[in-house]
Amino acid sequence: MSTSAVVTERSPVAYARKRLRQGLRGLDPVRAGAHLDRSALELLSPAQRARFLEMPAFDQQHLCRVANHLREQGITDRDVILAGLLHDIGKFDGVRAVRLTDRVGKVVLKRISPATLQNVASSYPRGRFPGLALTVRHPELGAEIARSLGCSERTCWLIRNHEAETDLGDPDLARLQAADFAS
Ligand SMILES: [Fe+2]
Ligand SMILES: [Fe+2]
Repeated sequence: MSTSAVVTERSPVAYARKRLRQGLRGLDPVRAGAHLDRSALELLSPAQRARFLEMPAFDQQHLCRVANHLREQGITDRDVILAGLLHDIGKFDGVRAVRLTDRVGKVVLKRISPATLQNVASSYPRGRFPGLALTVRHPELGAEIARSLGCSERTCWLIRNHEAETDLGDPDLARLQAADFAS
């Protein structure tokens, strides 16, 4: 897939629709994960795996789908697969996790009041809406978590930038964004 096609697919409306669909899938995590291939987890170190398994079931399934999608595209670079498997690790900070209402809130606020959304994000970890803040800040927080878990700088960079508006001219980031969007 060309990088320009990736950017087009991630237009704001298509992106919002896709995120909502992904969120609704999380309402029935047992059904959604019934036949999911979780073999990519073998790539994780014990510490990375332990942190991964603390994530809500919906997020674990999405992360496996993204890693599987990358592998199905023929990608074998461990740094990229690990980025796929951990790119949303920042949606759980060890205490609080992003919930469906936070996902919906982000989509709505981004359209009607981006400044409010930014204020909520800035107040983390003290604010009243930590889950909503995590939806906004999970790329940077996830990169820090990944670094603390021994991930390479390349994997951390991919995680930090996985929700950038463009692929930043990086083919691996384009592949990760496309896999994230498709999964
Ligand atoms: Fe994300
Ligand atoms: Fe994701």
